[in-house]
Amino acid sequence: MDKFIIQGGISLEGEVVISGSKNAALPVLCSSILADGPCIYTNIPRLRDITTITDVLSTLGMGIERPERNTITIDPTNLVSYEAPYELVKSMRASILVLGPLLAKYKRAKVSLPGGCAIGVRPIDMHLKALTKMGADITLSHGYVMASTEGIKGATIVFDTPTVGGTENIMMAATLAQGTTVIQGAAKEPEVVDLANALITMGARIEGAGESTITIEGMSSLSGLEYEVIPDRIEVGTFLVAGAITRGDLLIKGARAEHVVAVAEKLSEMGVVITEEDGGAIRVNGKTDLRPVQVETVPYPGFPTDMQAQIMALACISQGVSTITENIFENRYMHVPELMRMGGRLEEKGPTVIVHGVDQFQGASVMATDLRASASLVLAALNARGVTEIRRIYHLDRGYEELDRKLNLLGAKVMRERGGL
Ligand code: UD1
Repeated sequence: MDKFIIQGGISLEGEVVISGSKNAALPVLCSSILADGPCIYTNIPRLRDITTITDVLSTLGMGIERPERNTITIDPTNLVSYEAPYELVKSMRASILVLGPLLAKYKRAKVSLPGGCAIGVRPIDMHLKALTKMGADITLSHGYVMASTEGIKGATIVFDTPTVGGTENIMMAATLAQGTTVIQGAAKEPEVVDLANALITMGARIEGAGESTITIEGMSSLSGLEYEVIPDRIEVGTFLVAGAITRGDLLIKGARAEHVVAVAEKLSEMGVVITEEDGGAIRVNGKTDLRPVQVETVPYPGFPTDMQAQIMALACISQGVSTITENIFENRYMHVPELMRMGGRLEEKGPTVIVHGVDQFQGASVMATDLRASASLVLAALNARGVTEIRRIYHLDRGYEELDRKLNLLGAKVMRERGGL
């Protein structure tokens, strides 16, 4: 397994270009199942999670090509299987996103129950309940979701708590349903809106994406398309923190400022100077003493759970006591003991972590546990006095395109050591 060896204490300076959004690309690629013609997707990041989903789609018989580094073409017309097998789904929960489109278009699907990041129990009960209401017959057998239908029908679906993947799965299924579907309590994340835009480009009739009620009028068929995926707002947020935690000065290019408002607000409260520049760029200047912060993760447009670990690393070197509360997932604090190994002073109290600021992290040997937790360790290492060794960085490779190369272009010293434990 690869590891990073990071020489810390260097201020990052320069320009970084943001990749396409992983969490937008995954559902958008799955939506190609619904198309009757070729699909061309651009701005797709080169990541392990993307390879996993294209492997799932290939297993179904879809023709996948990568004519350019960030372009994927899909020919969805020759399906030979309706099964997403355990070997692929186990490493990524988002594989469940083939369920809705397979059922809507081919009336059957067999999808392994998902694995993914070890951040608590992450059920898919809301996906299954909604699809059942839309006419699917679903059983769980030997670790698989076995689903069939005589035809997916429009329905009113009410999510008591917003679910990103659930909203996406149902929205996809509803595009080819008989009749109209109304999703109440829908997730409002930009990735949901991006999927809706891709589906609309295919001819789907969708209104309200980005709001809490989405209405989808079912169609009899959808066409192929050419579509560019939005930039990755979590990568933007991570580089904002990288600029702040190294007391650096970065120009983050290819970003959508409107997608990172909650993160930028919290960083500004801490004293970090963030300015929107022309042409979709954001400048972050961290040459300042940091104030402590109070953060609670909430669904979009609030502060994202996928930035909780990164802002916690920053809070560790602020002057005072911060509190960070995780409301979306339980067990999403696996970075806490690792940050403590690096000199962070943290106390975990149920869903809240109390952070007592220190001057600087210290280099140490630490272990990456899940995707965003790993990012927080890289950020702490960039700040640290001395050398940090981060093992198991395959978690990072699932979600950050060429993080080591991008950081090194900004002056960081991140070395990737291949192989080993
Ligand atoms: C997506 C993101 C993930 C992000 C999360 C929350 C992708 C590929 N992943 O994950 O990075 O952290 O949104 O912003 O886009 N839940 C249930 N039953 C369900 C579905 C969800 O109880 O059927 C719970 C989950 O356990 C969690 C909460 O609802 O506590 C939100 O989960 P959800 O929004 O569905 O997250 P994902 O779509 O899996």
